[in-house]
Amino acid sequence: MTELLRTEKLNRAFGSLVVTRDVDLEVRAGERHALIGPNGAGKTSFVNQLGGQLKPSSGRILFRGEDIAGLQPQEICRRGIARTFQKNNLFRGLSVRENVRLAVQAQRGTPYQAFRSTRADRALWDRADELLAQIGLRGDLERRVSALSYGEQRQLEIAIALAAEPSLLLLDEPTSGMSPAETDAMIDLVRGLPRSIALLMIEHDMKVVFSLADRITVLYYGEVLATGTPQEIQNSTRVREVYLGEGH
Ligand SMILES: Nc1ncnc2c1ncn2[C@@H]1O[C@H](COP(=O)(O)OP(=O)(O)O)[C@@H](O)[C@H]1O
Ligand SMILES: [Mg+2]
Repeated sequence: MTELLRTEKLNRAFGSLVVTRDVDLEVRAGERHALIGPNGAGKTSFVNQLGGQLKPSSGRILFRGEDIAGLQPQEICRRGIARTFQKNNLFRGLSVRENVRLAVQAQRGTPYQAFRSTRADRALWDRADELLAQIGLRGDLERRVSALSYGEQRQLEIAIALAAEPSLLLLDEPTSGMSPAETDAMIDLVRGLPRSIALLMIEHDMKVVFSLADRITVLYYGEVLATGTPQEIQNSTRVREVYLGEGH
């Protein structure tokens, strides 16, 4: 399989606390890769470095063969890495469709106030509806975001990230705080995404991890403890000792 992203000896410290230590991690084109590990293992810090929200102390992040370490988030997004956050940043007063449409507009670089032909406007709405169909958000799309359930808001965030037309999508705990039914809906959503989009997903819920991931990387105190197929990770004594066995 073709390599899409690879980190090489990535390091990041906050003062004397090393949160990313010599991390080598590879995401292949189209793969669904889960990042797991106990709280404080450095999962979010790692993903923040890929997304440009946090600058690495040293090391490289090769995306399609180019080093993107330390670039601005917008530039990284333009190159094809999109993400969602643990805390969402939706426009709560706008409708579901309007939120997605604004994301499509941002992607296409159409200035908000500029004159737009009816046809161009139509194209933005069409793309927004396509993205909403892709994530399978049910019900009235003219509803304000503030009227959506928590689970629906998290689904909507994914539609917004997809508007950037990424080849790699970073998801930080997409099911955290969800009910079992909402979690199942999220699993279906992610499973339904096209394979042209690779995923790197931080996830605590082992049911979600084992139903979606092709490969899993385990982080422990900022270091890679193991990378492998779900089967390999499940059978790893080391992983069991430090993580899976701990009742997570
Ligand atoms: N901005 C920051 N300043 C100082 N320490 C931080 C900062 N962000 C995260 N940390 C610390 O880095 C470690 C890893 O955090 P994080 O990446 O959020 O872990 P995870 O997502 O695996 O729970 C934790 O000990 C956390 O307290
Ligand atoms: Mg985290």
